[in-house]
This record gives sequence, structure tokens and C-alpha cells, in this order.
Amino acid sequence: MSTPLWDKGKDVDVIVQRFCAGDDVVADRQLFPFDVEATSAHVLGLARIGVLSGAEATQLTTLLTELQARFADGRFVVDERYEDGHTAIETFLVQEAGDVGKKVHTARSRNDQVLVALRLWLKEQLRAVVDVTSSAARSALERARTTGATAMPGYTHLQRAMPTTLQAFFLGHVEGFLDSRDAAQAALVVVDRNPLGTGAGFGVSLPLDREGVSAALGFADVVVSPQAAQNSRGKLELFALQALHLATLDVRRLAWDLSLFVTAEFGFARLPDRFTTGSSLMPNKRNPDVVELLRALPAVVEGALAETQAVLSLPSSYHRDLQATKAPVLRAFPRALQGLALIPALLDGVEFDAVALRAAITPDLFATDRALELVVAGLPFRDAYRQAAAEIPTLGGRDVDGSLQARVSLGGAGNAGLDRLERRLNESNSAV
Ligand code: ARG
Repeated sequence: MSTPLWDKGKDVDVIVQRFCAGDDVVADRQLFPFDVEATSAHVLGLARIGVLSGAEATQLTTLLTELQARFADGRFVVDERYEDGHTAIETFLVQEAGDVGKKVHTARSRNDQVLVALRLWLKEQLRAVVDVTSSAARSALERARTTGATAMPGYTHLQRAMPTTLQAFFLGHVEGFLDSRDAAQAALVVVDRNPLGTGAGFGVSLPLDREGVSAALGFADVVVSPQAAQNSRGKLELFALQALHLATLDVRRLAWDLSLFVTAEFGFARLPDRFTTGSSLMPNKRNPDVVELLRALPAVVEGALAETQAVLSLPSSYHRDLQATKAPVLRAFPRALQGLALIPALLDGVEFDAVALRAAITPDLFATDRALELVVAGLPFRDAYRQAAAEIPTLGGRDVDGSLQARVSLGGAGNAGLDRLERRLNESNSAV
């Protein structure tokens, strides 16, 4: 076990040290490349203000590049020999560069170090959410375009309600994914601010080039207040997890729709073979396990949200409790993104049976149309409603396509707004 960074020559209780580290050093593996990247930017910042010589900075950044490579191919392992990933970096630099390595932590605290690594990691994760929700929206939009005006029953309360189109079904999912993309972009605005240089939460007595370091790391802005930087720990993760949660709720809704539509009872859709599994006992079964696991994704994120919220009952500034906000977010994002990544292919591959969809449109579904016809003929709506209800047994033989095309207000089947949604989809994702 390496000596802790804070060692001042007294014995360290190994059992206590193990407890404090917990599984943190394992979690830090996900953050490690970002921690190394931010360390390089910090080193170059220190050189710009003359705290490190140019030669020292070059020596350290060269070693950090080497560390990045060794970590990537497994030659450098971050494990319980170190208290955390931050200790692993400094220990490596001291081993390789002696006294020069000992300078790396000048004017830096692990409090701002962990925050900057987390923010860099979260930026990458949120960008992946933006990308995958955009791809899902694009796939659904493509299906909406090619599916034309295939008619189907619309449901409320899982009861048939009015005729609608398969196109409208897909467009509903398009706009849902676009809303969640916007939420991920909003979270990115908050995450994309650099806390490095705020130290332990009170600034430091050296003229750090905070803005230069931020720009070098690709941040859009800085966290100005050192106190706010520390107080953002956990809250930052909540912003990101909430956006992720919304995207997984879109997934769950789509997965539920498909789960119903592929049953023999509905008989509307068929999943691509690669999205189904067999039964170990019943040779006849083709099970929709994939959409069922997709339905379970919000549970992972809700667990992470609950765990993070439970820790955040704290006064201002850094407290070690905050370490416990790290594992949940590191767990939730990769799992949810793994599922989200399947959505475009699922949307591309699911097949619908147009004949079965149309056959499920029963005459009673035209009752609302009939009531509105009577309104156009001059009846007050409530009287028209009652008369249409009485006429339900006689509503057979109506023109489904005519009914759908008559819905000309924006978003209705006769004016679905495909191009408008396409424009929204193509609106710049590069705000951040
Ligand atoms: N592992 C710690 C965390 O995640 C790093 C920061 C430690 N800071 C401290 N003052 N003990 O919070």
C-alpha cells in the first residue's frame, strides 16, 4: 500500500484506510484518464505562472502521457495499493521524477481534482446521451416517413379510442427523444464549467491561470466561487442523472408499447430476431427479453438518484460523505447508455402488420368524428356528443383514411409536422 498523500510520518491504520477508500479506488478507474488529463493542464498552468520551470512541466506532462498509455494497456493498474486515483497519479510522478513529481499537487486539492475529473467524465457521458437520443429520434423519424399513412387504433387506458396512424406512433417517440436530448444539453451547460483552481473550496494564494487551464481542458466556462464548486459535488451528478433518467423513461415507454404490440393478443408487431431470446424449456417460445431489460433501465437510474440524494444532506463545503455520490453515477451512466445504444436498431428493425393494425379499427372508434360532423352541421357539441353515442351501432363502413386526412391541425394525421420535427432534430447540438 502506498503512503497516503497526507502522511506526516505517523502510522496509518490499514483497516481504517481500507474503510475510507472503500471501492473508491475501483470507481476512480473510470475517472482516471480524465484525472490525468486535468493534471497535465494543471501542470502547464503552473508553468505559465512560473511555479514550475518549462523543463519541469515538460518532464511531468511527458510522464503523464506515458501514464495514460500504460493505464490504457493495463501496464499501470489503479488498485488498493493507492488510497485513490489521485494518489496513484502523484505516486507515479514521484517515483519517476522524484522532487519534480512532488510539485504536481501545488495549489491543488483532491477536492477540486476529483470535481474536474468528474465533470470531464460527465461531459463525455452527457454528450453520448445527446448523440444516442438524437439517433433514436432519427430512426423513429425515418420510420415515420416511410410508414406513410398506415392506419391503426389509438389507445387510451389501453382501450381503443380513435383511429390514428403508425406514423403518429413513431412521431410521438421522435419528439419524446428530442425533449430528452434537450434535457441532456441543459445538464451539459451546468456540467461544462471548470472547478479546477478553486483548491479545497477557498481559493489559493498563488495567481493561478484558471481561465487558461479551463480553456485548455475544453470547458465552456469556469465555476467562479470556490464554495459553489465544492457545493456542486453530488448536485452536478443529479443534473446529469435526471437528464439520463428522462431518456430511460422514453426507452421504457417505447419498450412497453412494443411489448404489448408483439403479444399474440395484439398481433401488431414483430421484433427482429436478434432482439428476442428462447426459453430453456418451452421450444415454442420467442421472448422479448431485450425490450423487457430496456423497460428496467429507469430503475438503475432511479437507484443512483436516490443514493445520491440521500448523501446530499450536508452543510456547505467538502465532506468525505461526498465520495459516496461517486459510485452510483459511475454505475448508472454506462448501463443506461448500453441500453440506449440499442434503440436505433430496434426502431429500424421492428416490423408492423398493416393489415392487423387496420383490422383493429372498429366502427365505434369513429364516434368522435361523427360528433364533430354534427357540430359542423350546427349542433352544440354536447348534443352532438349524445347523438353520436346513440349512433355508434350504425357507424360501420366509414372511410378510415378520410377520417385521418381530415385531421389537418398541426400534429394531426393530415398535417403530421414531420419536416418541423426534422428541423428540430437537426438544430445544432453544438451549443456545448
Ligand atoms: N476520494 C475522495 C472523494 O471522492 C477524494 C477527495 C478527498 N478529499 C479529502 N479532503 N479527503 O471525495
